[in-house]
Amino acid sequence: MQGSAGVPLCDVQAQYRELEEPLREAVERVLRSGQVILGPEVEALEEEIARYCGAGYGIGCSSGSDALLLALAALGVGPADEVILPPFTFFACVGAVCRLGARPVFADIDPWTCNIDPAQVEGKITERTKAIMAVHLYGQCAEMEPLWRIAERWQLPIVEDAAQAIGAEYHGKRAGTLGAIACFSFYPTKNLGALGDAGMVVTSDPDWAEHMRCLRAHGMAPRYYHKYMGWNARLDALQAAMLRVKLSHLDRWTTARQQAALRYDAFIEEQHLAHFLQRPTVRPNRRHVFNQYVVRVARGQRDALVRHFKHEKIGCEIYYPVPLHLQECLHHLGHKEGDFPVSEEAARSVLALPMFPEITVDQQRRVIQSVAAFQRQETRLAA
Ligand SMILES: Cc1ncc(COP(=O)(O)O)c(C=O)c1O
Repeated sequence: MQGSAGVPLCDVQAQYRELEEPLREAVERVLRSGQVILGPEVEALEEEIARYCGAGYGIGCSSGSDALLLALAALGVGPADEVILPPFTFFACVGAVCRLGARPVFADIDPWTCNIDPAQVEGKITERTKAIMAVHLYGQCAEMEPLWRIAERWQLPIVEDAAQAIGAEYHGKRAGTLGAIACFSFYPTKNLGALGDAGMVVTSDPDWAEHMRCLRAHGMAPRYYHKYMGWNARLDALQAAMLRVKLSHLDRWTTARQQAALRYDAFIEEQHLAHFLQRPTVRPNRRHVFNQYVVRVARGQRDALVRHFKHEKIGCEIYYPVPLHLQECLHHLGHKEGDFPVSEEAARSVLALPMFPEITVDQQRRVIQSVAAFQRQETRLAA
């Protein structure tokens, strides 16, 4: 789509073009080493990511989804347990809970940030509650202070889903140090993206770290002696080597995302669209890393705007169109429409605009001018 009048939602090849040489060198280093699963590249990445977050240990794994499974399994989540989580997030969150045989218990979200609303959490705690999952959606940390108070009062661990939030901060503390265990995804469109699937769990607790290291390799310790019921969630050396190259550029890319977000804010204001496109809310004392720039589209016009963008070759995405409590495979939980109204309203109105570090001012201007044209056309039709 590059070079045409369109604007992609994300351009994963831009980083490849920028870093072609060091990425090729990293691949060759792995080819020459002969160690392609786990090994020194993975260990080095684990150490570098843990340091980047300010945490004690990193355990590389095959994806962000497996990171969530490892974290919950290490905390002992199993059948008959309950885990509290928001219904407005990616499916992997609830998938991990259900895969372990536990019951997901939803707590609705804050309408401004789309993160879990701490005021909804305490009322959901029962004697079966085993953990609280805080998802840092779109790249902004959840409201942790009240969650910490609840967690302490009830002696419950918090699992951070930081898949979209590497480098995000809450009152100066990095995602990865805000709960018992944090889960990262290196899916290619994430702020730190691999060239395939990859993920990591981060913790400062040596026992949980050891447990997760063991679980990711079939619970084996030592070789062929299986201490736990684990599975294969290992990380490839090739992905680790390439992620190490990219990690040294992450802060520069994050700054570029933040600048692009500010430009979108300004263009929306300039085009008098603030009443139509509600800009993302950034809470004070947060470092929002803008994995996504997500607006709320007014007056039920989100889906018409999506069709307009498609026609104009402008990338956009709905994260997420169906809240978890209304997903078909979770029908057995017995939820119905209206149970989590804030999540349901978000699912009807959110829209992610093109966002990647290399996005140009012209591309962003084109996106917002296209929204302005859509709105003029809608106003004419309504008159
Ligand atoms: C919030 C959230 N949690 C978990 C995941 C799962 O990560 P992965 O795709 O690496 O399995 C993702 C990635 O899409 C995500 O956005």
